[in-house]
Amino acid sequence: MMGIKGSTKVYGLFGDPVKHSLSPVMQNTAFQALGLDCVYLPFLVQSNDIANAVQAVRALHLAGVNLTIPLKERVLPYLDEIEKEAELIGAVNTIVNRNGRLCGYNTDAPGFLASIRAAGFNPSGKNAVILGAGGAARAVSFALAKAGAAGINIFNRGVEKAERLAQDLNAAYRLPTATGDLSSDLAAALEGAELLVNATPVGMYPNHTSAPLLTRNQLHQGLLVCDLIYNPLQTRLLEEAEAAGCRFLNGVGMLVWQGALAFQLWTGRKAPVALMEEAVLKAMETEDRDG
Ligand SMILES: NC(=O)c1ccc[n+]([C@@H]2O[C@H](COP(=O)([O-])OP(=O)(O)OC[C@H]3O[C@@H](n4cnc5c(N)ncnc54)[C@H](OP(=O)(O)O)[C@@H]3O)[C@@H](O)[C@H]2O)c1
Repeated sequence: MMGIKGSTKVYGLFGDPVKHSLSPVMQNTAFQALGLDCVYLPFLVQSNDIANAVQAVRALHLAGVNLTIPLKERVLPYLDEIEKEAELIGAVNTIVNRNGRLCGYNTDAPGFLASIRAAGFNPSGKNAVILGAGGAARAVSFALAKAGAAGINIFNRGVEKAERLAQDLNAAYRLPTATGDLSSDLAAALEGAELLVNATPVGMYPNHTSAPLLTRNQLHQGLLVCDLIYNPLQTRLLEEAEAAGCRFLNGVGMLVWQGALAFQLWTGRKAPVALMEEAVLKAMETEDRDG
């Protein structure tokens, strides 16, 4: 990286793995575009080192970090402050170091919202169906509830996890929820819905040829079908959505917007979202397909 000085603010990504992450190229593009004296680096941090890694943020005066698998849920006890939304979701993907006080945020949730809004979809008053009940599904569900969704149906391989998420959503937002496993009648659940979100890794490289969780006959034209996966850009689920005449969206928007919102928390500046997206897409074209 060119131009690093004694005054350069250091940001980073903690996770395992981080080798193929697109965040460094995305954040460094943004710093350079705005002429900021900042740099963003990947740090391989294993789960059992989370306490040391958070201590290192303080000791090394890192200005901020992102967290990815498997640290988003584990980092919470080590922070000084956690914003309400991140606490409800139970996951922090962004830390801001405010003079040694480490504040945790979840930008996946508003990042997802920003991505669907950028695609012209307003979730207010609409019913949604979510596939999955892990970290991403939690972020998406809380984001939709906060944005005024009318109801959320959660389907997960392990139904207990879906039920736990529904309970947490109800406790915070009191909106109608329903749950089931993946053998449920998904087509029936989709009848009154306008949004379908795949928050499972089904369809992700290198398992991109495996059968999608839904096929075209179960979808209807009134749906926006979002797959949070961005590798490949068009999953088999999105191919089915296209064939069914649905609008569809891949996970690049959420990836870019969660990064843009972290950038804004760190710098107080408006993120150059289009440039960040361009950098991500270019890196995806040129790198091997594990990223
Ligand atoms: N675009 C973005 O910015 C972005 C951000 C975050 C995540 N994502 C994507 O979202 C997906 C989920 O990530 P996550 O962080 O939520 O992971 P996670 O916490 O590990 O949750 C994974 C979820 O998928 C389900 N699942 C896993 N393998 C499955 C299979 N073979 N068949 C059916 N269900 C399966 C799990 O069900 P069980 O509970 O039954 O195990 C669980 O509900 C990944 O593809 C990830 O790349 C994208």
